[in-house]
Amino acid sequence: MTIASLQALAGSLKDVALSDLASTRAGQQVFDAAGWQFDLSRHFLTPEIDEALFAHAKAAGLQGAIERLFAAEIVNPSEGRPGLHWALRSQSEEQGLAESVRASTNAALVIARRLNNGELKPPNGQAFKSIVHIGIGGSDFGPRLVADAFADHQLKQFDLRFCANLDPLDLQLALAGLDPAQTLVIGISKSFGTEETLFNLSRASDWLAASVGDDWTSHIALVTASSAKAKDWLGGGAGLILDLPESVGGRFSIWSAGSLACMTALQGDVFQDFLHGAAEMDAHVQTAPLESNAAIRLALLDFWNTSFMGFSARAVLAYSRRLRMLPTYLQQLEMESNGKSAGPNGKPLSLMTAPLLWGGEGTIGQHSYHQWLHQGTHVVPTEFILAPGSNESPQGVQALTAHALAQAEVLANGRSLQDIQAEEPELSPSVAAQKVHSGGRPSTFMYTNQLTPHALGALIALYEHRTYLAGVLWGINSFDQWGVERGKTMAARIKPVLAGEVQADDPVTGHLARLITS
Ligand code: F6P
Repeated sequence: MTIASLQALAGSLKDVALSDLASTRAGQQVFDAAGWQFDLSRHFLTPEIDEALFAHAKAAGLQGAIERLFAAEIVNPSEGRPGLHWALRSQSEEQGLAESVRASTNAALVIARRLNNGELKPPNGQAFKSIVHIGIGGSDFGPRLVADAFADHQLKQFDLRFCANLDPLDLQLALAGLDPAQTLVIGISKSFGTEETLFNLSRASDWLAASVGDDWTSHIALVTASSAKAKDWLGGGAGLILDLPESVGGRFSIWSAGSLACMTALQGDVFQDFLHGAAEMDAHVQTAPLESNAAIRLALLDFWNTSFMGFSARAVLAYSRRLRMLPTYLQQLEMESNGKSAGPNGKPLSLMTAPLLWGGEGTIGQHSYHQWLHQGTHVVPTEFILAPGSNESPQGVQALTAHALAQAEVLANGRSLQDIQAEEPELSPSVAAQKVHSGGRPSTFMYTNQLTPHALGALIALYEHRTYLAGVLWGINSFDQWGVERGKTMAARIKPVLAGEVQADDPVTGHLARLITS
């Protein structure tokens, strides 16, 4: 199926009402995977378009791409690496590189158990009571999401804190009220070269040393792919160094030793169940036929909505308190993976690629940006993820569910002027007109009856595979991130400008630097 024919099919939908499409497809566009249900009926899709997308998926070799990923082939050509995040959670007897990758997670789980049962202590003999996780990007979003999602499963013996920002307040708040003598600082940096993390690690080590002197390195655990740099940083001290494999991308490393803080501070089965859920989703993605393969269907949907329907954003609406940090996590996963305009051959891509991904917690967003979603001039596909965190109050779950279903229905079907005038005849014509909802706003509905660690693992693994496969459709290497390098190097060049040592290259930067430092 050619791009031109897909474009023609998109054009044929111009005057078709989403509500008409959806009503004919109700209940037919549902599939399930690893405990999740998915409903795609409220999208600008028809049986003909589905068939065209399936044909395109075959031509693009999506199933072959899945095989290459799980065969540890090079899927990251610019860095010459495979993508082995799936091996971190693999339950099968992987061989070779995948086996050593899985071993790195197992080693971290052993360390976590020894920290957890008090076996691993600093020289002062006092068990660790506080854990401070220092990292940023993929070395922060994932562990922070898991810790927040399962805060009610945190062991009472540990106070778990996170720090990512250079703003000095972030570390201040992370250390506030903690006893250095009973604190373990876990520094996560795959490159061991990220300024924010090294800066905060250095300040945290000074904080430790002020209390425990030369024993401060015994209060440090470092997780990195650059163990030589970590050893240098410790200066021969006694700190723990755990492996974060080179073949695992930073934004794909939630399954790794990078989550040591969660492995230690959450109840023992939480992280294991999380890994098992991901492994179950991996099995689905590897074996499900194309038409019912959740990762393929969602990747095709992203490809269709962005590159053919012209939607430049997607809103993830997590009707789930445990998933309130998921949109932030997915922003890095999807936008750092596929926010690209050149392919592995360096040539510009012809199609629009990854949309802006944003979102928030439902029903909270209904009191904020849902006005924009319903009556704004921009049409944005939404993704409802209904996953209650507790069944303690059936009424609460029912209300949450009703809101999610209602929002998706109104976004799709709208509310016509005729209906408003019939239902509220007392309204003036101008107010009645302002109450019109145009509808025609597509949505995906995802559901699981409770957001357990297993369900979260399955969901995140699904988004990883969806992101990779959407990248294949767009002709993108989803595993490198050259776009984040320039800003970092420019910051290094602007510091001496702020110190008044050199002139700025850029006149606006120079003006702002003078303004800020005056
Ligand atoms: O944002 C750029 C990036 O390299 C991310 O890909 C990564 O997750 C983050 O910075 C942190 O990198 P590191 O783990 O090497 O400190």
